[in-house]
Amino acid sequence: MLNTRQELLLVDVEREAMRQAGKFNAQLMDFVRAHVQAGISTGELDRMIYQYTRDHGHTPACLGYQGFPKSSCISVNEVVCHGIPGTYSLKPGDIVNIDCTTNVHGWLGDQSETFLIGEVSAMAKRVTQCAHDCLYLAIRALSPGCRVAEIGRAVTSEAHARGFSVVREYVGHGIGRRFHQEPSIPHFPNRQSQLDRLHPGMCFTIEPMVNEGVKDTVLDRRDGWTVRTRDRKLSAQFEHTILMTEEGPEILTLTSDGPQEGHAF
Ligand code: MF3
Ligand code: CO
Ligand code: CO
Repeated sequence: MLNTRQELLLVDVEREAMRQAGKFNAQLMDFVRAHVQAGISTGELDRMIYQYTRDHGHTPACLGYQGFPKSSCISVNEVVCHGIPGTYSLKPGDIVNIDCTTNVHGWLGDQSETFLIGEVSAMAKRVTQCAHDCLYLAIRALSPGCRVAEIGRAVTSEAHARGFSVVREYVGHGIGRRFHQEPSIPHFPNRQSQLDRLHPGMCFTIEPMVNEGVKDTVLDRRDGWTVRTRDRKLSAQFEHTILMTEEGPEILTLTSDGPQEGHAF
């Protein structure tokens, strides 16, 4: 029987290529992290992301993707995802998610991190902490051949226990030579994710978006990209690219510089 679904099982050399892509993307995030502070504009950060990536001979995968105009997505406060870098300057109290994806020799690494700018509110810290904890709880819920729904169960149960909601319209995804491929990785359990399994050799992202208020989002009609919470309350997100191996999940987009599992914000 023909398998019409698109998820791919990577062989060793392909896994190694994905490790390299993830590693470069994580180094890019280390570079960015050192520059994220009050006073810098999101457009300046994007410019640095573009330059660092090109200087190393690689390509920002966001640039031109379905017409996206910049090299990264930078999403401040009530922006859930796909914020377009521009003239806005970060100010104390903001939370800002920076989402970078790099094409390294034809293979893609994708990750994001939410940063706290100066002193932020207790709520801003709580929602950011929750998104980070949810990402790692989801990773720890995985084992070779497990169902995709384990991710959604881990994320929603933790977020709801803390009084937060989980975005449904935007999901994680298979990744490899293409940016977004099967399987879909929802951060809530649904019918398809109860069927889909994460076999050794599969690469995918986990990228929970956790909201302070309602889960619902609205797309900016003017720019066609910026996604905001419907109630304009805060949203935080973290993302890693993961390879499922015979031994369990391997995080490809992690270096020792950034927030580690269990980090307290
Ligand atoms: N990096 C995002 C993700 O995690 C996708 C951004 S697509 C873009 O899937 F076109 F907005 F860049
Ligand atoms: Co992604
Ligand atoms: Co991303």
